Amino acid sequence: MKIVAGNSNKVLAEVIAKQLGLKLTPLEIFIFPDGERRIRVLENVLEQDCIVVQPTSPDVDTNYIELFLIVDALKRNGARDITVIMPYMGYQRQDHQFRDGECVSLEVMIKAVESLGADKIITFDMHSIRIPSLFHIPIKHLSAIPLFAETIRKNGWKNDDTILISPDMGGINRIKKLSEALDDMPYANVVKNRDLSTGKVVAANIDCESSAWKKKTFEGKRLILVDDMISSGHTIDEAGKLLKKLDAGEMYTFVTHAIFSSEAPTILQTSLMENIYVTDSVFVPKEKQFTKLKIVSIAKEVAKEFSK
Ligand code: R5P
Repeated sequence: MKIVAGNSNKVLAEVIAKQLGLKLTPLEIFIFPDGERRIRVLENVLEQDCIVVQPTSPDVDTNYIELFLIVDALKRNGARDITVIMPYMGYQRQDHQFRDGECVSLEVMIKAVESLGADKIITFDMHSIRIPSLFHIPIKHLSAIPLFAETIRKNGWKNDDTILISPDMGGINRIKKLSEALDDMPYANVVKNRDLSTGKVVAANIDCESSAWKKKTFEGKRLILVDDMISSGHTIDEAGKLLKKLDAGEMYTFVTHAIFSSEAPTILQTSLMENIYVTDSVFVPKEKQFTKLKIVSIAKEVAKEFSK
């Protein structure tokens, strides 16, 4: 078996390779002055099962193109079976036509990777549960929820002093799964409104109807906010401010994908959160790291898929 990595998250690829007892097969990724890429696999992959590690996080377009070229290089050089590990998948926002005249970007990416010869996809915490059904090849949709449950247990946080919080109604299923994994830890949902023209987020109140926590205050409880991704950081920051007004005690955040655009690291560091736990599905460069950040690796969960 061979494992190769594009440029988007070599650190994760190295850890996965180590878990599998493999070394990364070297790739030559030559970038021409105009930005075009030329990929060459530097080992024989004929009749080999190959793994490609390439989350399509920002810079999304570049990382997708690199992925397409790597799959093509492997296929042309005789790889038998190609599994793409794309823990974060870009273009999930556009998984259907919202308005007449629009493209469906996600389907374009899926068609490309499938037609180039990928045989299987492994991914984590997709934005919508319908996305896996858009694929025609097998897809394994994993979740960071078991890892988060393990970390919460290790931290010694118990059901009588801790409440799980989804910072918006879209996260209700995620929070229910985590609650189940933690012996029915209580949970609550924030009602988040986003102004579509300015993108500004407002955490309006707590939805006591669908929450397992029916009270309107949190009386010094430890709160754990859980989301699929952080982009600007405003969702977490605004939820923190609302929850503090409702007497929250210490607050923590657990998020799968650390997209961290623009000012997110500063917003998160100065937020009311004690710590922000993220996975390594997306590489966080040194300049985007901050003291409240803690990284939990998904590598073991990925490696398990190859020992079945
Ligand atoms: C929204 O539906 C997602 O689950 C996240 O809450 C959102 O993408 C976070 O974005 P931001 O960090 O920009 O507020």
